[in-house]
Amino acid sequence: MTTLFLLGWAPMALAHGGVEDPQVLARMEGMKRLGTEMKLLSTMAKGERDFEAEKVRRAITRIEEEAGQIPVLFEPEAQDPKSEAHPSIWDEFHDFRGQAQALEEAANSLSEPIESRQALGPALVKLGVTCKECHDEYRE
Ligand code: HEC
Repeated sequence: MTTLFLLGWAPMALAHGGVEDPQVLARMEGMKRLGTEMKLLSTMAKGERDFEAEKVRRAITRIEEEAGQIPVLFEPEAQDPKSEAHPSIWDEFHDFRGQAQALEEAANSLSEPIESRQALGPALVKLGVTCKECHDEYRE
């Protein structure tokens, strides 16, 4: 499963300590939830955890819901020294919103039940590229 290199963010330590702005914290928490769901899916895809179709379904549903919250959480132009949000988000909010929609749509397109570990890999990649595209552009 060479494509899983895309998921390299998963074990990353997150530096939230000292973030005081509640709006910044809220959007970071939202992203962290996305990270948690993707980590669950990637450990299953890699066989580090038993495959469970029901858990996969729930994770994808939560990703879709969380993706729908991204524009809401990022709309306030809140700043914090620890934030990794690129200021261009608020110059190009329309495009940023489009990137969030791409994730939401990718999750929505996976509504057919995923019944095997083999089928999980491509699904994960489909989701993961949308995370990466937005991070490449809007996360420092
Ligand atoms: C629409 C753009 C966008 C999409 C889509 C997106 N992210 Fe993010 N993500 C960001 C931005 C911007 C930040 C930096 C936020 C900050 O530090 O204020 C971030 C930060 C993060 C963080 C670090 C949060 C923290 O605690 O500091 C994680 C983890 C993360 N994203 C995971 C994901 C995963 C997993 C996906 C896909 C399932 C995803 N993101 C999709 C824009 C996006």
